[in-house]
Amino acid sequence: MGEESTRAEADSRGGRGGRRTIQQMVVVGLIASLLGIALGLVIDWFPTAGSTQADKIDTFWDVLIICSVPVFVLVSTVVLFAARDFRMRPGEEHLDGPPIHGNTRLEVVWTAVPAIMLVALCTYAYLVLHDIEKAPAKGPERVVTVTGQQFTWTFSYNEGGKKFSSAQLYVPKGESVRFNVQTRDVLHDFWVPAWRMKIDAVPGIQTHYRVTPTRLGSYPVVCAELCGLGHAFMRQTAHVLDAPHFAAWVKKMTAAPAAAAGGGAAGGGGQAAAVDAKALFTQGESKTGATACGGCHKLTDAGTQGGVGPQLDKVLKGKDPAFIRQSILQPDAEIAQGFNKGIMPANYGQLLSKPEVDALVNYLEKVAAK
Ligand code: CUA
Repeated sequence: MGEESTRAEADSRGGRGGRRTIQQMVVVGLIASLLGIALGLVIDWFPTAGSTQADKIDTFWDVLIICSVPVFVLVSTVVLFAARDFRMRPGEEHLDGPPIHGNTRLEVVWTAVPAIMLVALCTYAYLVLHDIEKAPAKGPERVVTVTGQQFTWTFSYNEGGKKFSSAQLYVPKGESVRFNVQTRDVLHDFWVPAWRMKIDAVPGIQTHYRVTPTRLGSYPVVCAELCGLGHAFMRQTAHVLDAPHFAAWVKKMTAAPAAAAGGGAAGGGGQAAAVDAKALFTQGESKTGATACGGCHKLTDAGTQGGVGPQLDKVLKGKDPAFIRQSILQPDAEIAQGFNKGIMPANYGQLLSKPEVDALVNYLEKVAAK
């Protein structure tokens, strides 16, 4: 068999069989596209949607699936069929393909169609973005300032002229909230997956977005920018309350400090009986934004399971109150084996009052150090 006949054979494969191959490709492509789109729409990609913004973003996602699956299928089908029909057979090792000039009509189509799709999707994306960033038409807008720092979030409010901060985020359902996002140190990223909105906290500037929560409940607040060793644990909770409960929470937060600090039952003990140290340990100090110890530390008595920091039952065993106090106020002074400096926020001295620190030291000495 000469080289000429082999080449003729190779050429004819794309020719005579061509029409049937294209029919096969169309059928395979259509089925794969329909299956892919159906699968893409059925899969639960995101957590439950909890804001008006989330609904619009989820619709946008569905449109993207519907547009991109057929493009992916088209390219894959052509590649797979080409590999099947035009693959090199034994004896064709030194054979060159037929000289082709190109196909102008095809090139115009595969340039124009994606270009039109891109422009259309960008326009749609712009309209969605414009829509979800819009300020509410009427009424004053609630503003919450979100401050990131290694490795915690603080939420600052100004309700009726009264300013206060919280380590957990509270917002009323059905009202637009503007979040002003900033950072004390490095880049962080303020993200509440249930609301779908996400923006970087950038040193030196303030960024912002708006959310109108539509679902009551508690949702994770996540840092979505690699910001250091404690990044994965920079998680807090967003609570969406109905209007009366939110008003009650604001009232509690803006009440005189003496009234807000009382009401503790367990823990504490001794002179600092007014402070519920166990509650402080598990819930943090919401007025100043001090994060709960239990989020990072395992402590049997408090029933907390955090694994970022050392297990306190172990590392505080046999330690005196002075050591415990130093561990809270200057966490980097002495680091437990296997852990790193700079993970625990060093500002508990500012966020907690002296009675609160005393109560924590008492409590930890009682339950962990003995
Ligand atoms: Cu803050 Cu990651």
